[in-house]
Amino acid sequence: MSEKKNTSREVLRAGFVGGGRIADLQAIGWLEHPEATVAAICDLNEATRSARASEWGAKPYADFNEMLADESIDVVEILTPHHLHVDQAIAALEAGKHVSLQKPPATSLEDYDRLYDHVDAAAERGVQFRVFENFMWYPPHVLARKLIDEGEIGEVLSVRLITATGKQGSGQGWHIPPEAHAWRLDPSLAGGGMATFDHGYHCFHMGRMFVDDPVETVHAFINVIELPGGGMIDAPAMITWRYAGMPRFGSWEVIASLGLDVRSDYYVSDDRMEIRGSKGIIWVNQCQGRLLEEAPVVLYSDGVESAFHTIEWDWASSFRDGTFALIESIRSGTRPRLDVDDARATLAFAIAAQVSAAEHREVGLAEFDREQGS
Ligand SMILES: NC(=O)c1ccc[n+]([C@@H]2O[C@H](COP(=O)([O-])OP(=O)(O)OC[C@H]3O[C@@H](n4cnc5c(N)ncnc54)[C@H](O)[C@@H]3O)[C@@H](O)[C@H]2O)c1
Repeated sequence: MSEKKNTSREVLRAGFVGGGRIADLQAIGWLEHPEATVAAICDLNEATRSARASEWGAKPYADFNEMLADESIDVVEILTPHHLHVDQAIAALEAGKHVSLQKPPATSLEDYDRLYDHVDAAAERGVQFRVFENFMWYPPHVLARKLIDEGEIGEVLSVRLITATGKQGSGQGWHIPPEAHAWRLDPSLAGGGMATFDHGYHCFHMGRMFVDDPVETVHAFINVIELPGGGMIDAPAMITWRYAGMPRFGSWEVIASLGLDVRSDYYVSDDRMEIRGSKGIIWVNQCQGRLLEEAPVVLYSDGVESAFHTIEWDWASSFRDGTFALIESIRSGTRPRLDVDDARATLAFAIAAQVSAAEHREVGLAEFDREQGS
């Protein structure tokens, strides 16, 4: 059990709904921040609920509405399967709680757009909503964006992402309980494939994070293969996009490297990135996997190589920093990052890729603009 903090009203109190695999990392920021705590856990699974309650010193709830009625809860962290996200977020906002909603925020745009009226009404009452996507808080990614802003690579000309999902059961990485796999294999619960939709939300957000111009068109090949232990994965895939403005492209390649031993403390997935500019290049060599003993970020600029060996690069730090940022937004009353509009743009990008692959055509993101007032 974590050491109890002073839980006076000066301390922001989070109630988690869903205490499964990712709750390990999502709790870190709440537990480490001196002015925050995990005060409640709601999970349908009795064993999970009790284990989290004693681990965090939190009050267990079997019923989500009962947790929402607890006036001591300020913020709701939603970490349940995707098809539950929007309804749970709406219920929490209506109960006057700030909401942090895990990616992907919804299974479709129709599902997602139901949030708007509730988010807008909550904002008028000073209640915050944000989607949580941790790659945007990963220190090597934050450094890459800073180097771009400082002009180190000139104009960004290309963003290339690569994900290789590795060998399960090699002794590396997390144990993923079969229950956490099961709902992900049902498109009505997950909204899309494990690679290009679930994990994809991170990568599509990275596609948007390093270029200020919006993504205009997407073209995707997404193949689906059977996994050796049963189930399917939407890989290999090759997704390319064009940004608005000057001609420049991004790409994300997904590879099912099912025999690859990915050194990892988390998921056995190797994610890396290369950003090319008019006068330099940035390589991000680390993320959740730890394949190469290289600097997490390497910059080549004006003919000089700089390797950033000492920045923090444990993937878990992205969860902590994202939670600290939300706590700061709530304390200062400023709109959190990945707000309702920004999160929708990433979801639209992810869905455009699915449509492109299914319909074998290039898809313009304008097809997915939200009708105002809808
Ligand atoms: N940011 C990341 O990198 C990252 C990584 C993994 C998962 N996630 C997201 O976190 C969410 C959860 O993923 P996970 O891997 O932890 O899944 P999981 O299956 O391990 O955990 C889900 C938990 O929700 C509980 N649950 C299901 N329905 C519920 C309900 N109606 N009320 C209360 N509890 C309920 C389950 O009992 C389970 O404990 C998903 O949205 C996923 O996309 C994000």
